[in-house]
Amino acid sequence: MCGIVGYIADENVTGVIIEGLKKLEYRGYDSAGIALCNDNNLLVRKKKGRIANLEDLIRDEGLFSHTGIGHTRWATHGEPSDRNSHPHTDMSGRIAVVHNGIIENYAELKEELMAEHGSVFRSDTDTEVAAHLIGVYYDGSNLEDAVYQATQKMRGAYAFGVISADEPDKIVAARKDSPLIVGLGKRGNFIASDIPALLKYVRQIYLIENNELVVLKENEVKIFNADREEVHRDVFNVTWDADAAEKEGYDHFMLKEIHEQPSGIRDTLIRRLDEQGEIVLDGIDLTKEEIEKFDNVYIVACGTAYHAGLIGKFAIEKLAHIHVEVDVASEFRYRDPYIDENTLFIAISQSGETLDTLGALRMAKEKGARIMSVVNVVGSSIARESDDVFYTWAGPEIAVASTKAYTTQLVCMYLIALYMGRKKEVLSDELYHEYLEELSAIPEKLEKYLKNQEQVETVASKLYQQDHAFFIGRGVDSAVALEGSLKLKEISYINSFAIAAGELKHGTIALIEKGTPVIALATQQSLLEKTVSNIQEVKARGAHVFAIAQEGCEEALKDADEFVVIPQCMDDVSPILAIVPLQLFAYYIARFRGCDIDKPKNLAKSVTVE
Ligand code: AGP
Repeated sequence: MCGIVGYIADENVTGVIIEGLKKLEYRGYDSAGIALCNDNNLLVRKKKGRIANLEDLIRDEGLFSHTGIGHTRWATHGEPSDRNSHPHTDMSGRIAVVHNGIIENYAELKEELMAEHGSVFRSDTDTEVAAHLIGVYYDGSNLEDAVYQATQKMRGAYAFGVISADEPDKIVAARKDSPLIVGLGKRGNFIASDIPALLKYVRQIYLIENNELVVLKENEVKIFNADREEVHRDVFNVTWDADAAEKEGYDHFMLKEIHEQPSGIRDTLIRRLDEQGEIVLDGIDLTKEEIEKFDNVYIVACGTAYHAGLIGKFAIEKLAHIHVEVDVASEFRYRDPYIDENTLFIAISQSGETLDTLGALRMAKEKGARIMSVVNVVGSSIARESDDVFYTWAGPEIAVASTKAYTTQLVCMYLIALYMGRKKEVLSDELYHEYLEELSAIPEKLEKYLKNQEQVETVASKLYQQDHAFFIGRGVDSAVALEGSLKLKEISYINSFAIAAGELKHGTIALIEKGTPVIALATQQSLLEKTVSNIQEVKARGAHVFAIAQEGCEEALKDADEFVVIPQCMDDVSPILAIVPLQLFAYYIARFRGCDIDKPKNLAKSVTVE
């Protein structure tokens, strides 16, 4: 997730901007850069890698400026590299832009700029397109007007910081669906994407709303709404310490990331649907003939990503009519699976660096499989070694327990399945559109659900002293049960076990006794009666049942001791919603037990060893 810092002041802003960028390092980034207005010129310096690389680059230059913008980049369009780093400039090289977000229609804008204005692009980014567009509207004296005109042509999400060598006395900023704040300092004013960047310098903040544009001068800040009327904004006084600020007021990164799921899912869907509602899988180029050739698909991953693969199998088999096997990477690479040139190998990985997944990928590649990956970190090893890469745009995940990576991986798997089914012409128009509507509705449903999460906390307060727990479910719920169970064990250290509900009676039910917590996923309306029978089986043995079902199914769950409902949805996509109460359940249980939630013992965020 990119970070922005801008500063205009009666002092040299260079060091302050770099310091601010360092405070945003926790968001994750792969390059950093700065642009300064200097003697009626623009100076742009940027470098792949850590901020220290940028500091090395400018160390001996003695840069001085009263106006500047800086950026840390988390790659979305284009690999991490010097040339793709921000700031980007317009054609004249006199306007510099930093950007956080994704411009959905950047490809068509780029075409238009090349055809009508002879634009020549020096990077692969959507941000450079924005810079050129601003340049087209700029008359040399009204930067805010140019930014306004340009944003009118853009679809997608953005927070911009813009400066011009022709008007060094101002920074213009604009926001739509990406975070942006203004800081009111003693010696000047700031923009930033996040409060921690500014805490050392300011405590008084303006929170910028969607579709607002801001003009900052050394002694003045003006905010304009979408109708270009100046608006008054109350000052927000920040009382958080630096640690709380990084978590945006949440107590833990895990909780923050759970709450980021609606926007992560939205971002992952964004740009993958064109105006006609057709799926555009950027990074994946498979023809109908190529898809028809696959007689075997392996989905290979570890941990949470493996659990996303289980849902992927279900989706691809149902929608694209191809046989799919899902494997744990550490097993797959040593079991000599049958692979040939008709095999599609799909690796799923948040980090893109998990060694077992990478090892399995290399083996499949050697045997001739086509390699596709679903990855969160742009430019990571798995992404680089794949033929096709489909990115989850979850943003950096900092808590060890994976949450938003999982739900965005699910979205990717549904999109891949729909795409393949559509290309193969084995999927009805009706089902295709029904799926897309359901997926598009999820962010809003999730937002509403997350506003009302106290119920799960109450259930957790009753069960947190237990030593073990069982998760059960049928159909896709059995895969969600595995993920819910993993969440609970990894952060609360409760011995937890997940099993397909129908399999209980074949042995595991022997372990159920009075008070045993059983978390029952009952979100599949088509299997509800059967799941209710399984709940009765464990109830009869004294289990304390916590059930999760869709709204409207409350009656069927009257035997459960506790239950929460998720918003109504199509059974097939319910895992994206059903996992959320389980993430919260694990979170609150761990919290009641006093565990180190973001950094559980014995675990690492990225497992780069066998
Ligand atoms: C789950 O919460 C874990 N952090 C872990 O299971 C993780 O999903 C696994 O190690 C795979 O990581 P990856 O997605 O980065 O490949």
